[in-house]
Order: sequence, then structure tokens, then C-alpha cells
Amino acid sequence: MRSKISEIREKIEKYQVSNLKELEEMRVALLGKKGQITQLFSEFRYVADNEKKEIGKLVNNLKNTAIDKIASLKENLEVSDEKFSNLDLSLPGYPFKFGSRHPISLVKEELYDIFKTLGFSIAEGPEIEDDWHVFSSLNFAEEHPARDMQDTFFIENKPDILLRTHTSSVQVRVMEKQKPPIRVICPGRVFRNEAISARAHCIFHQIEGLYVDENVSFSDLKQTLLFFAQELFGDEIKIRLRPSYFPFTEPSAEMDVSCNLCGGKGCAVCKHTGWLEILGCGMVDKNVLENCNIDSKKYSGYAFGMGIERIAMIKYQIKDLRLYFENDYRFLNQFKSVL
Ligand code: DAH
Repeated sequence: MRSKISEIREKIEKYQVSNLKELEEMRVALLGKKGQITQLFSEFRYVADNEKKEIGKLVNNLKNTAIDKIASLKENLEVSDEKFSNLDLSLPGYPFKFGSRHPISLVKEELYDIFKTLGFSIAEGPEIEDDWHVFSSLNFAEEHPARDMQDTFFIENKPDILLRTHTSSVQVRVMEKQKPPIRVICPGRVFRNEAISARAHCIFHQIEGLYVDENVSFSDLKQTLLFFAQELFGDEIKIRLRPSYFPFTEPSAEMDVSCNLCGGKGCAVCKHTGWLEILGCGMVDKNVLENCNIDSKKYSGYAFGMGIERIAMIKYQIKDLRLYFENDYRFLNQFKSVL
């Protein structure tokens, strides 16, 4: 009897209910006609006479504990019911404050989406690079001015280790590891030792594109870039390619898009030319393919590279590069995310 009493007492202490129905079930289980405590009372007659006084006390106490517990659980339920009954469930919820996305991230993701539909995948590489991947493998002559201390941040006392000045280094890393067909875009931060102004910064972002396969031609490049420009700026946009020079492409070109402000008529932004330069491109130089152990007789490829800040400047008509890096809330807040 004693052990039964303490067992039931323990159970009562632990009891938790979440609604009135459960509470009633608990009451019936303990104090109902066939309840455990009621049962104890009917078994009481079998208790030895000399123990009746003590056991009687224990059973009575147990009954009171159960009654108290049921009362306090009921009170709790009523209080929480009251709390909820004051709620107007038809009120609209509190507005959820969306953050804004940085324009560089917005443009970057848009570029990912465009190139993903063309079958490009994303490749990344290190920001701290060696001379081979940034310059030598890309056909930069020993005395090329881009290697100059003026442009490149070298790691102190290590002339071979530097902060990459462009993401073309990643195309080399990909070609060293993968066999054609290769179709990648390589986004990332790049670093140049430039004085910071509205038009130049020592850190910015680039996306490099690379396609290597059999029979890749300049017209593939042109069509890819036209598709990209139309996806990004709309079907009305025109592109033009001007001959140019890069050590790692031959032939090389720079691509302009028609000015999205004046529609190509000429304005202050496009310096009255009607065109805005947005990227460099060309056919991957045979030397570069060979430097990466790709047979240049069998394979050809195109590459292109663009600054993300520049694209975002054109897209959102941002006039000062420094705004991207200042984290000024008034600037950032204008780029509300849809998601
Ligand atoms: N790496 C060049 C730069 O930083 C951009 C570039 C030009 C990349 C032509 C290319 C290319 O892949 O073909 O200015």
C-alpha cells in the first residue's frame, strides 16, 4: 500500500495537461469511480489495524494532493484561455522587415542565372595567387606593365606571391585540372594598387567566362555575349565589338552595349558616343591552352571578363564606385530584395 501511494504521488507531481479534456481524463483516472485513489480507499479495509491510522493519513493526503493539483492545472488553463481570448486573429501580422541585398550580389546572381541557362558552371579560385596563374601562364611578357608594382599588390618579401589582379587566373586553374569540354564562369574579388576615386578602387569584383571545346569559334563568342546582354539589359540592347589587345586572347575585342540612359542617342553618361564599354573578350591564345596542357590543334576556346561594379553602375545608374564599399544604409536600402 505504501509503495502504491508513493507511486501515485510521483505521478501526480509530474502530470501536465494542455486542455480541459485532458484534465478531466486525469481526474477520472485518479478520483473517478474506478480511479486509482478511490481504489485505495476500498482496499483500506485490508490494512492491518495497527497501521490503519498512519495509512489512512497517507491516503487522505494523497487525495488532497490530487485535488490541489487538478485545481491548479485548471487555473493555469483558464488563465491561458483568457490570454488568447483577447487576441483578434483577423488582424494582419506584424510586417516582416526585409533586409536589402548589396547591388553587387544582385548583379552577380543575375549573371549566374543567365550563364547557367547556357550550361556554364561556377568555378572559384584563391585570391592570393602566384605569378604563374595571374601572369605567366596567361602569356604576359616578362616586362608587361601590368606586372608593375604600381598595379599589383605583392605579398611582402615574396615577389612570386600576389593578390590576383583579375579572375582570369581561375580559368587557368580550371584548365589545368579539367579536360575539355569546359564551360565555366569564375566570379571573385580582384585587387589593384590604384588610388581610390569615383572611377577606380583597389578592390572590385570580376566575372570571367571560359568555353573550351572542339570547333569553338568567334561567332559562338559573339552570340553568347549578345544573349547575355539582352538577358541583362533587355531585348532592345545593341552590342558592338571593337578590336583590342589582351595577352591571353587572340584575336581580342572589347564589347560595348548601347547606352541604356539615352538609348544610344548620346548623353553625358556615354560621353555622347551612345555606347558603354562593359567587357573584354577574345579567343583563348594557343599559348595559354598549351600552358595548361590542352592540345591547341584539337581544341579552341573563347574567354571574356567583366567588372561586376561596372555592370551594376550601368544597370542601376550608380555614379561613384566608392558607394559599393562604404556600407551607407541610405545607399544599400535602395536595393530591396524581392525574396
Ligand atoms: N582579365 C581582363 C582584365 O582584368 C579582362 C578580360 C579580358 C578577361 C579579355 C578575358 C578576356 O577573359 O578574354 O581586364
